Amino acid sequence: PPSKGWWLDQLFHYHGFWLSTFALRGSMLLHDHFKPRPTDIIVATSPKCGTTWLRALVFSIVNRHSFDFSDHPLSKMNPQELVFFLEGAIYIDGSTSFVDGLPSPRLLSTHLPYSLLPKSMTDDASDCRFVYICRDPKDVFISKWHFANKLRSKHLPPIALEEAFDSFCKGVSHYGPFWDHVLGYWKASLESPKKVLFLKYEDVKKQPSDCVRKVAEFLEVPFSPEEESKEMVEEIVKLCSFENMSNQEVNKNATRNSGRPISNSDFFRKGEVGDWVNHLSPQMAEALDHITEQKLQGTGFNFR
Ligand code: A3P
Repeated sequence: PPSKGWWLDQLFHYHGFWLSTFALRGSMLLHDHFKPRPTDIIVATSPKCGTTWLRALVFSIVNRHSFDFSDHPLSKMNPQELVFFLEGAIYIDGSTSFVDGLPSPRLLSTHLPYSLLPKSMTDDASDCRFVYICRDPKDVFISKWHFANKLRSKHLPPIALEEAFDSFCKGVSHYGPFWDHVLGYWKASLESPKKVLFLKYEDVKKQPSDCVRKVAEFLEVPFSPEEESKEMVEEIVKLCSFENMSNQEVNKNATRNSGRPISNSDFFRKGEVGDWVNHLSPQMAEALDHITEQKLQGTGFNFR
């Protein structure tokens, strides 16, 4: 039965995950109609883990020979217009016609948990690849809460932190439980390292150049010594940095309407590690850490 979600709409419990109507319908259409190509590259995330950033990085790594850095598509377009939201595009069309029409290699993104993707995408026989990014759940929660309040109607009172926290801890949030989402991709990255690359937001923040090289190697487009000597990795890091992207006019656009319920500027807030300290009480942080510890017990994975 539908459960009242704390974000924008109702969420439905489906094969262990909480999905909105559009994610559920998009996932079903994906199963029935999507034909992956061996060249497909999928940016996969749980919301608020760095989708926008990873979209920008993957786009600029893959297309680095096609564009000049001084006049780059990322300075005119939001990353969601360059790396298309798979289940969203399919839901809007009611079919796969838009994604079928994209030239190869297609750059797509999804929030769907690994276990909810069609076998045609996750089978080792299928060559499409996933780049996944996760983030400390405390920062994810705070980012989600801010995002939800930004999108909330001005006529409604803001979502109380405590109410949102309770929901998130119970796993009831878009594409949640958050921990199960992360573990699904993490296990897939261990079982199929050529298919799934697993990154952490905090690592990309700390050593962005190393992460850019890692993504390029995974996608089999490593940087040549000549590119290294031209400092192309550093150019990409700079281009995709929060400072640069959040200051682009296109990403300051705050227009929302019924056809575009989320504005470009909604995807940029602080872009920092550890902002949760400014919002969560020590008891809340401890409670969330405790849940994380329990969820990760015996898996060999941690967020540090
Ligand atoms: P905060 O709310 O903590 O600032 P997503 O893209 O998955 O929706 O995630 C949004 C989060 O990533 C927001 O986090 C946003 O500010 C941050 N973000 C957006 N672009 C970024 C970038 N280029 N570098 C680092 N963080 C970025």
